Amino acid sequence: MEVDEIIKILNEDFVREIEATMIYVRNAFIIPQCDPSRVTEAIAVDEMRHMNWLADLIVKRGGKPTMEHKELDFGKDDLESQLLKQVELETEGIERYKQQISVIDDPEVVGVLKHILDEEKRHRKEFRMRLEKIKH
Ligand SMILES: [Fe+2]
Ligand SMILES: [Fe+2]
Repeated sequence: MEVDEIIKILNEDFVREIEATMIYVRNAFIIPQCDPSRVTEAIAVDEMRHMNWLADLIVKRGGKPTMEHKELDFGKDDLESQLLKQVELETEGIERYKQQISVIDDPEVVGVLKHILDEEKRHRKEFRMRLEKIKH
């Protein structure tokens, strides 16, 4: 795979991490219940770390991180809708990272993406646990 193609993929990931960071920071303030709010806040910080790791990979390969995110979709403001939205974002990330890991032939990039993938799986689990709690 050409380096330009890798930079393009990493930039798409970078923008998705920006969007996740902002949606989670915002939701953490809107959610009145303490536990799901604190978890969402902590995960927002993880997503910002993912931005940093991706930006590092992009710059090392001669690219520049792009900040052009689309209009944010926060969904509805009740806790169940927020958690469902957050699970959906994690699932999209998991699918994207898995696919990228299978096609990118740059070992450093693949190593970082695998690390991010593990964290996205843990995030989804955390959000799903909170979703289960409110359903019962
Ligand atoms: Fe992430
Ligand atoms: Fe995540």
